[in-house]
Amino acid sequence: MAQKRVLSGIRATGRLHIGNYLGAVKGMLALQDNPEYETFYMVADLHTLTTPYDAKTLKDSVREVVLDYLAAGLDPEKSVIFVQSQVPEHVELAYLFSTVVTIARMQHLPTYKDKVKQYPQANSMALLHYPVLMAADILTYKADSVPVGIDQEPHLEIAREIAGKMNEAYGLSFPEPKRFTIKGSEYIPSLKGEGKMSKTVEGSYINLTDDLASIRQALAGAPTDSGKGEKVPAEGGVANLLKLVGLFLGETKKKDYEEAYIGEGIKYSELKGELAEAIFAELKPLQEKRKVFENDSSLVDRILKEGAVKAGKVAKETLAETKKAMGLI
Ligand code: TYM
Repeated sequence: MAQKRVLSGIRATGRLHIGNYLGAVKGMLALQDNPEYETFYMVADLHTLTTPYDAKTLKDSVREVVLDYLAAGLDPEKSVIFVQSQVPEHVELAYLFSTVVTIARMQHLPTYKDKVKQYPQANSMALLHYPVLMAADILTYKADSVPVGIDQEPHLEIAREIAGKMNEAYGLSFPEPKRFTIKGSEYIPSLKGEGKMSKTVEGSYINLTDDLASIRQALAGAPTDSGKGEKVPAEGGVANLLKLVGLFLGETKKKDYEEAYIGEGIKYSELKGELAEAIFAELKPLQEKRKVFENDSSLVDRILKEGAVKAGKVAKETLAETKKAMGLI
């Protein structure tokens, strides 16, 4: 049986945090290790241009994401690892796809509105076009699984709509891609007690490269309460800490703390200390692996070069098929 394809990507906006790791990278790893899937993982450098960025450091930021990928266990023997702009077919396909998408549909997306609110000066055509390029990233490989966090669901919806429209209008056979996330990791909350963990909110995140002291410091800033009450809070700082306890220390430990909350009370210094140790224990092997790749930049160059060639081969096929169906060739 032919392998199903998987595609995912992360923008080059800095080092990855544990939200990216749990929400996206862990899913990428699970599918990479499943022989039923052929996996394509990229750094979305073109999508990075849709919000303010520094051209002088963009290449370094791309490298940071690649290093985090490799450190986390993405394996060039099993996955095609590449940089989006090195496979220019994505952009050409995105243009072709834009013919079946209305401006109104794009303007109403919550992800678009949020970004415009965040960067009112950067309301560009590229930002509006973001989901179309993302659909092209996915459909170039005819991927039917996409490991991403739940915030990306509106974009996946657009990819499904585009697939459906292209199939209907031109007799193509794009699959309708579905999100894949490890259960419980689709949304990692901010350490600040409100919203999601995000690179753009200082104090909200823990990076994969953080040492124990930095993790302790980040957790120290997480809001708490008296540690006692009739009901365990369902949202806010304490709920978020308990969610992380479940993810890094296990559900049993989380239950123990929940029972303590309605019983004798929680000592947050203890909880935070234990959680910091558990997070660091999970990150330490990644940090050691990262050093190996940091010290061998020619190996990383080679991985990306080979990745772009392999991805380009598939991309050329899909593009030719699409152009033919659309009457261009
Ligand atoms: P980006 O760079 O914003 O986000 C990277 C990935 O991390 C996930 N994520 C989270 N998951 C759970 N909890 C959180 N707090 C959290 N924060 C971030 C995001 O859901 C995402 O999976 N549009 C994509 C990049 C992209 C892409 C693609 C993805 C471009 N082309 C094609 C998949 C397929 C993005 O915004 O990544």
